[in-house]
Amino acid sequence: MKPKEETLVQTASNLSKKVYIETYGCQMNFSDSEIVASVLTTNGYQLTNQSDDADLVLINTCSIRDNAERKVLNRLNDFKRRKKKEPSFKVGVLGCMAERMKADLLDEKKMVDIVVGPDAYRDLPDLLEEIDRGRKAVNVLLSREETYDDIEPVRLDQSGVTAFISIMRGCDNMCAFCVVPFTRGRERSRDPQTIVSEASELVTKGYREVTLLGQNVDSYHWSEGGLDVNFAQLLELVAQVSPLLRIRFSTSHPKDMTDDVLVVMSKYQNICEYIHLPVQSGNSAVLERMNRGYSREWYLERIASIKSIMPNCAISTDIITGFCGETQKEHQDTIELMDLIEYDFAYMFKYSERPRTLAERRMEDDVPDEEKNRRLQEIIRLQNHHSQKKHSKYLGRTLEVLVEGTSKRSEEENFGRTTYNTVVVFPKGESRPGDYVQVMITDFTSATLKGKIV
Ligand code: SAH
Ligand code: SF4
Ligand code: F3S
Repeated sequence: MKPKEETLVQTASNLSKKVYIETYGCQMNFSDSEIVASVLTTNGYQLTNQSDDADLVLINTCSIRDNAERKVLNRLNDFKRRKKKEPSFKVGVLGCMAERMKADLLDEKKMVDIVVGPDAYRDLPDLLEEIDRGRKAVNVLLSREETYDDIEPVRLDQSGVTAFISIMRGCDNMCAFCVVPFTRGRERSRDPQTIVSEASELVTKGYREVTLLGQNVDSYHWSEGGLDVNFAQLLELVAQVSPLLRIRFSTSHPKDMTDDVLVVMSKYQNICEYIHLPVQSGNSAVLERMNRGYSREWYLERIASIKSIMPNCAISTDIITGFCGETQKEHQDTIELMDLIEYDFAYMFKYSERPRTLAERRMEDDVPDEEKNRRLQEIIRLQNHHSQKKHSKYLGRTLEVLVEGTSKRSEEENFGRTTYNTVVVFPKGESRPGDYVQVMITDFTSATLKGKIV
């Protein structure tokens, strides 16, 4: 069948168009940018990794903290200058900030042409046509079903070794501090068969590690077409794809993480011995105000379970300092919990009030900024100490490392990760990205290990 003439014209005009995608925020956003890249390239756009070169710049944004949004607004200012000189140059805002601010973004200093929320990326080609006709375009509809499960992502990470696979979208928890339920909508799980086939496809292409992504992977649940699959079962299905493929996942939620997930982890050598289990606070009253759905005791019991099923499992966490009403004593409980657990790694933040959240509506953001900072610095120092201590235990040991690429510091060295998610840097030798090598650890800092291939 002959294509319609207007389709031909459309494709021809798109072919000359180059798009640059810039991504902020979490792994889920990075994974979404790969969906966006796929939607656009199948519609005739060309990707470029230089914004100067692009006819269209899309910024995939994050709203998690105020400074994440400020970064994007500054970035929009950078592009504003070019827009003034070059009216055909277009700028779009995607992702969580698009969802949160909606059409208000169009008024934002008149520098945005297109606003698209996380569930509307299939609509991008049509919306871009709209702006070609000189109109502004917005689609921020959230969906209860969209999982993009039939779209093959265009991998933007150049390594060819590690990849993300989204297994679910949205979040049904209402943590009092968190904007995600408002920007990402209701939780929905993706068809497990499409997840497994994406993983197999990646192995065929030479990938050696996948990270299964969701805001709360433990509540993954698919029950349709005679299939009933929970997260533990999904993990097992993906682990069986190939012994050469390492599996990671993020994020586990302490209130929902069950022992059957831990048992599956211990059963498969290719599932990494690493769990990211955000605690947020070490004090039960704060956790209650945060609406996290667990207490300090419950969390400690989950940690005990990890240690009993996988004694060597590495554990990392997220912590917020200065949440509404946090007293010095409550902060001290976080410090004490950190000392008790000695995390391998932690992401630490000071509380940032977000519009529409439970905390914004019902609680007072009453810990002074200075004090939030002081508490943050205190836990950062403590965590550095714990990370160093963990790393020192690897000295002299030989660990399996999946090579990811050339080290940023030296052309002579490669870097990769251990099963525990620690970065190891070592002289290249014969090793190439995608290889598994045995590395003897000879030195360390709080951030990385150093070693040599044996
Ligand atoms: N779904 C994941 C977290 C996603 S957001 C989970 O439930 O663990 C990543 C981290 O950002 C959170 O764990 C939290 O520590 C931090 N965070 C979220 N909202 C925040 C806010 N308003 N201020 C400061 N940090 C925040
Ligand atoms: Fe936010 Fe809580 Fe959902 Fe995580 S589980 S995304 S912190 S609401
Ligand atoms: Fe940010 Fe949205 Fe992720 S708010 S952390 S990009 S889900």
